[in-house]
Amino acid sequence: MSNLRDRSIKPELLRRALLDWYDRQGRTLPWRIRPEDRENGVVADPYAVWLSEIMLQQTTVPHATPYWQTFLKRWPTVFDLAAAPRDDVLAAWAGLGYYARARNLHKCAEVVAAELEGVFPSDLEGLRALPGIGEYTSNAIRAVAFDKPASVVDGNVERVISRMFALETPLPKSKPQIKALAAELADSHRPGDYAQALMDLGATVCAPRSPDCTRCPWRSDCAAQHAGTQTRYPLKEKKKPKPVRRGVCFHVLCDGAIWLRRRPEAGLLGAMMEVPGTDWSEAGPDEAEVISETPFEAKWSDAGKVRHVFTHFELQLTVMTAHAPDDWQPDEGVLHPLFELEEAGLPSVMMKAAKLGLQAQDRLV
Ligand code: ADE
Repeated sequence: MSNLRDRSIKPELLRRALLDWYDRQGRTLPWRIRPEDRENGVVADPYAVWLSEIMLQQTTVPHATPYWQTFLKRWPTVFDLAAAPRDDVLAAWAGLGYYARARNLHKCAEVVAAELEGVFPSDLEGLRALPGIGEYTSNAIRAVAFDKPASVVDGNVERVISRMFALETPLPKSKPQIKALAAELADSHRPGDYAQALMDLGATVCAPRSPDCTRCPWRSDCAAQHAGTQTRYPLKEKKKPKPVRRGVCFHVLCDGAIWLRRRPEAGLLGAMMEVPGTDWSEAGPDEAEVISETPFEAKWSDAGKVRHVFTHFELQLTVMTAHAPDDWQPDEGVLHPLFELEEAGLPSVMMKAAKLGLQAQDRLV
């Protein structure tokens, strides 16, 4: 039985139980207006909420929070972010992953600043028309920033609903059913608090591996809890193993600097900085390709491999390292001072490669 009526679930009781729990146990997050403050007339800053929601796509709250704080301090308004050089925004995003989000973030800020006088829309259609804002994010911004009715379904909510209704259809096929159930349950009196309460419940109580059902305000209506099968849900379709792609990168040290280059605009890690190297492919580069792309003749040392899992494949990158003569000038890219490596705007996989090469160089001397 997986609908509200068959289960004699009373949505208004669930809403009240969840909001009571949130008033007492909800998380305090820097972009969040707590219920008591909201009641006293404090309203959210839509720019700050939008920034948090873009960062929280596929990223945990603890990982995203320091980035959110840095961005807001450096670019306190959407006009500041829109006016910032895009490369500065990409560099500040380095380490958060999914870099299309950063490119769209900057584009979106430009549109809101230039075409909407800096005002984020509160309707779903207006929000969806902006770069980088899809179904989840438009609903989240409408609820959290504007306290307007919206049904917000992220991975946490999918888990809570799947367990409440013991859904036997695996994800992603069950998404429409989950959305319909979540929409039926959604609260229209305190939409912002309700949306965040449900996400918090999934993140803190209805956790993936060890749900703490004794603390759950919905436990008496939870089908999985009754059956003792909480961790069976949500069922997921078996994923195919990811293919492996291989590449070689050239870790060049030159007079206290490291050779870096900006990646092409289109494609993976688009417009981000990298340790230059060959293309990535399943077969990997052959010897002729490696030789033709080697930037200068030297005694190259194999520093080892870095591995990184992207959405559609795993990358194995072999790091070759060498010292260039002090007067070497690369045909493309820049020599970036090593003492400022953390500020180079390298995505995680490239930072791993840069550090692996440095470790190898330490071992070689
Ligand atoms: N995950 C994404 N957005 C969130 C929010 N506003 N509150 C809690 N968890 C979230």
